[in-house]
Amino acid sequence: MMPRLTPSRSVFPALAALLLVSACSGPPTGDFEHPDLLDAEDSARAEALGAPAAGALAQGLMSRLAEAMEQEGVAGAVSFCSDEAIPLTRTISRDHDPSLEIKRTTMRWRNPDNAPDEWEERMLRYLEAMEGIEPGSAPETVTAQGPDGSLRFYRTLRTAPMCLHCHGTDLDPEVRQVMEARYPEDRATGYGEGDFRGLIRVQIPGDAR
Ligand code: HEC
Repeated sequence: MMPRLTPSRSVFPALAALLLVSACSGPPTGDFEHPDLLDAEDSARAEALGAPAAGALAQGLMSRLAEAMEQEGVAGAVSFCSDEAIPLTRTISRDHDPSLEIKRTTMRWRNPDNAPDEWEERMLRYLEAMEGIEPGSAPETVTAQGPDGSLRFYRTLRTAPMCLHCHGTDLDPEVRQVMEARYPEDRATGYGEGDFRGLIRVQIPGDAR
């Protein structure tokens, strides 16, 4: 079994190096490029615009997912995630503020469309490194520079018990079958309760006020 300290095989060498050289407090250091964290003023601006949109997405997905699971069972609710999670994410961007771009991302994606870009990857590795040193220590929200002068607001996603039906270690055979059929390269299983699963990312254009 993979130890819980290694959230992704691909970060293992970086994490191992990190664990050797890091003290247990302060920002993680290590052999990867760090995100450009924002100063207080930009961070407040990113949070003012990003937090409500990220909150709306988290809440929208949770309530629709719970409803789908109740009505259609776990295997049936996989279709909701496949067919509606990305469109719902776009709708929330549009309804909130069309200049915002919202996405969910993770180093262990199920759908390759959710794979991180280089700015997201830096943030994911940074937070995973924190989690590697001390599980649960990644902050709930964080802000950083994005491409082309944009600002990015991130909200941490952790696995609640309900998530483990589809992201845990012991999937029901029917659920496993649906997952394998739809996502032959699925990396998004093997999580335990409370694990760092990924991020909601809201991108705010550089000139937004
Ligand atoms: C009914 C099964 C199911 C449950 C329950 C579920 N997910 Fe997922 N999850 C999926 C599927 C399917 C996808 C791929 C969606 C797509 O194709 O965009 C996914 C994708 C994701 C993604 C986007 C990144 C990726 O891997 O593609 C995140 C983040 C995520 N899930 C987190 C969670 C969290 C957190 C919970 C619990 C609150 C949860 N999921 C519960 C099935 C599920």
